[in-house]
Amino acid sequence: MSLYDDLDLEKGVHRMIAAPTGGGKSYFVGAMIEGLYEKKIPFIIFDTKTENHIGLIALKDVKKLTISPKYNYKNLDALLDYPYILCVPASRNIDIADIINIYREILSFLWLNEKGKRIFICEEAHNWNKNASVPDPLFERIAREGRGAEKYLWFVTQRLQNFSQLLWAQCGITYLMHFNIPSDIRYASQMIPEFDWKKSDGKKIPGLNYELAEHDVLIWDGREYKIIKAADVKRKTEHKG
Ligand SMILES: Nc1ncnc2c1ncn2[C@@H]1O[C@H](COP(=O)(O)OP(=O)(O)OP(=O)(O)O)[C@@H](O)[C@H]1O
Ligand SMILES: [Mg+2]
Repeated sequence: MSLYDDLDLEKGVHRMIAAPTGGGKSYFVGAMIEGLYEKKIPFIIFDTKTENHIGLIALKDVKKLTISPKYNYKNLDALLDYPYILCVPASRNIDIADIINIYREILSFLWLNEKGKRIFICEEAHNWNKNASVPDPLFERIAREGRGAEKYLWFVTQRLQNFSQLLWAQCGITYLMHFNIPSDIRYASQMIPEFDWKKSDGKKIPGLNYELAEHDVLIWDGREYKIIKAADVKRKTEHKG
């Protein structure tokens, strides 16, 4: 089985990708995006860092859109001509909240105006929500109604506990790397049975989290799980994150 078979990229589901800082989210998501590209599935990446996914513009036809709060983003029609888009902040010192406000406008535009499939990849997705119990209304809407319009959200976050369980519950597939902080592990266990511990012969033994070596990825589809070893996550483009 190839990596792309394991990732099941054609499956029409929202996806959750979570790991602590430096855990390997962007590296892994980049490999998934290379898979989307190979399968000609349109996507837009809403990145919160300037360099994170920049390697992907080596792929022909990936359009880089540099976001600056000073610019007026009302006329977004041109975006419809680009199947593969990477949005990045113009510089490091722009307030993340300003960037996300612009991303929200772009997301809303594509949601309302574009026909056909598109994957919306949201880095630091927790920043879009007010807090874990108040999910972003646009996220909620797309999470609920996206399937009919072939619009799928990928939430990438390092702040598991700050991310809405309501939104997470709408994700058909979850990808988790190893977590260290006990409260994160407990939060994940509410969604993924056996993440923290499991039972064997009536005894409690360490769960899936502890089977994950550095950068390994646990895939959970609500019924069964699979582990992708870090060495099997192969990148085609350079990862600069
Ligand atoms: N499967 C892998 N094989 C080899 N190296 C990896 C793998 N996954 C991640 N790395 C390396 O680990 C480092 C951190 O990865 P990455 O940038 O994806 O983390 P992240 O979770 O996105 O972190 P942040 O929260 O800071 O954005 C990078 O230097 C990356 O090259
Ligand atoms: Mg990252």
